[in-house]
Amino acid sequence: MKLKALTDEIARYVEDVKTAARYIKEKISQPPKLAIILGSGLGDVSESLEQSLTIPYDEIPGFPTSTAPGHKGELLFGLISGEPTMLMSGRFHFYEGYSMRLATFPVRVMQELGVETLIITNASGGLDPNFDVGHPMIIRDQINFMGDSPLIGPNVDEWGPRFPDMSEPYDRELVDIALQSAKELGIGVYEGVYVAVAGPNFETPAELRMLRRFGADAVGMSTVPEVIVARHAGIRVLGISAITDRAVPDDLKPLTSEEVLEAAKRTGSKISAIILRVVKCLASD
Ligand code: HPA
Repeated sequence: MKLKALTDEIARYVEDVKTAARYIKEKISQPPKLAIILGSGLGDVSESLEQSLTIPYDEIPGFPTSTAPGHKGELLFGLISGEPTMLMSGRFHFYEGYSMRLATFPVRVMQELGVETLIITNASGGLDPNFDVGHPMIIRDQINFMGDSPLIGPNVDEWGPRFPDMSEPYDRELVDIALQSAKELGIGVYEGVYVAVAGPNFETPAELRMLRRFGADAVGMSTVPEVIVARHAGIRVLGISAITDRAVPDDLKPLTSEEVLEAAKRTGSKISAIILRVVKCLASD
């Protein structure tokens, strides 16, 4: 693509994001400071949202629509511990065919709405042989192994710098609060590095061996693009993975998306409890 065409495409994208944000602003009473992206089967937090308003994606001008299993496709606005919060039920994956830029459209909308903190969840395979299925992992760091970035192309200076810093993709203070919250709740959690692959196929044993040697503890097909955009936008991030299967090459069993969803649902209440406690802690600051 010629540079002029690319520049026009980005200008249209920026306009679409702003149109979507304007549409949302007119519907909500208070702009959210906090946003939560709910991964596959991890919708529990939405039950704790007070005075909630639902906006389906297909109502919002310019907004992509969701197709992945276990994803609803709606934004929810309301209060958690008195904090104005936006919940995203259903995300857009690179493997669905969305460009990286479209997949991260909602994070740009969050930025336009003035969101300062993003809590992001996902289902992932445990590369660490000591990880048991059904437990949360607080994400300490990430590896982009998707072969693309949402920031490729002309930079939108209004949204962030050309070369954003990634020395602390996941906010250390939020990681500490999440670990402390889990401890107080008596929920065992792991800590580790999340690596994102493009998918949609699950990994081969050789790929899992490689990813483990790269230094990753869990593998999934989301989150990394959204975190890159959030950091570009200056939004601080907390990430929590549900370990839904053992991604251990020498002990690998055939895996289905149904198994992943089922295990995510089992882990969802733990992740939800941790998130609610973290938000309570942030709200009382
Ligand atoms: N690999 C990739 N993505 C996943 C996995 C996995 O094992 N489990 C859940 N999402």
